[in-house]
Amino acid sequence: MKEKIQKIKELVEKNLEQATDLEALENIRIKFLGKKGELTAVLKGMGSLSPEERPVIGALANEVRAFLESQIEAKKSQILKKERAEKIKSETLDVTMPGKKSELGKVHPLTSVMNSIKDIFLGMGFSIADGPEVEYDYYNFEALNIPPNHPARDTQDTFYINDKVVLRTQTSPMQVRIMEQQKPPIRVIAPGRVYRSDALDATHSPVFHQIEGLVVDKGVTMADLKGTLEMFIKSLYGEETKVRFRPHHFPFTEPSAEVDVACFACGGKGCRVCKGEGWIEILGCGMVHPKVLANCGIDPEIYSGFAFGLGLERIAMRKFDIDDIRLFFENDLRFLKQF
Ligand code: DAH
Repeated sequence: MKEKIQKIKELVEKNLEQATDLEALENIRIKFLGKKGELTAVLKGMGSLSPEERPVIGALANEVRAFLESQIEAKKSQILKKERAEKIKSETLDVTMPGKKSELGKVHPLTSVMNSIKDIFLGMGFSIADGPEVEYDYYNFEALNIPPNHPARDTQDTFYINDKVVLRTQTSPMQVRIMEQQKPPIRVIAPGRVYRSDALDATHSPVFHQIEGLVVDKGVTMADLKGTLEMFIKSLYGEETKVRFRPHHFPFTEPSAEVDVACFACGGKGCRVCKGEGWIEILGCGMVHPKVLANCGIDPEIYSGFAFGLGLERIAMRKFDIDDIRLFFENDLRFLKQF
């Protein structure tokens, strides 16, 4: 029996050597030390021994059992340690590796200037209106006092969809749409895209943006127009900005003016950017023509109003010192990332 116990001991030791994971270890424990295990079976057979042998073999069996149990424990912690080391190794981060930079999107410079302009007018109590880019000839021209064959049509090279429908050449048709829908007092801006069949160059694009403004109420005068636009320009460009109103002609306003600001490149001395003028034109404006009010069902004897139309690209070009309009539409990241 002694030999049997000795053999079990050797066998367990040999098996332990080969065990590499916890499952194998558990199987060994069950096979030899479990309730139905081999060593347990030996202990159960002790009844057949002589009274002298029994305590000797019993002591030996218990000793071997304790020994094997501690061997199994030792092997167990060895395996756990090894598994942990492997896990740590496989999860190691190399903090010296170069990182992957995630690109941040940015607001397009035109959108950013558009937002500032909207904010300024919202602050002055204006609301914002939106309207169609594919527009009736009636709204784009006729209702604005530009009948067929009027020379003003020539200055706005028009994309015609058909005889009656155009791509709007200006946001001014929104004046008519707004006055048809609302009764005075009216204080609205209408931003949006406009189209002209111009060749693309540094200062022209077949698609660009305008912001139309319209104020109609009792007793509105040219002084309100000047005050509002000066306030707007100084809020946008700074208090010290020089502004000039220059008489002009538009069919839908009377009197009409264009507004210039001192050239950003030369400050007014005259240079290539302002073509020697010292000034850059940024908007057209005037008192809404009585005929236009009447076309929209508003009595010009009772109400008066002013209107203005600004070119967003021009304003953004001046704000950011950009000398080529094409940069806004080419979506070159080297350009866009600068804002
Ligand atoms: N629509 C004109 C243009 O595109 C700009 C303009 C001038 C708008 C005078 C107005 C205005 O509202 O009163 O050239």
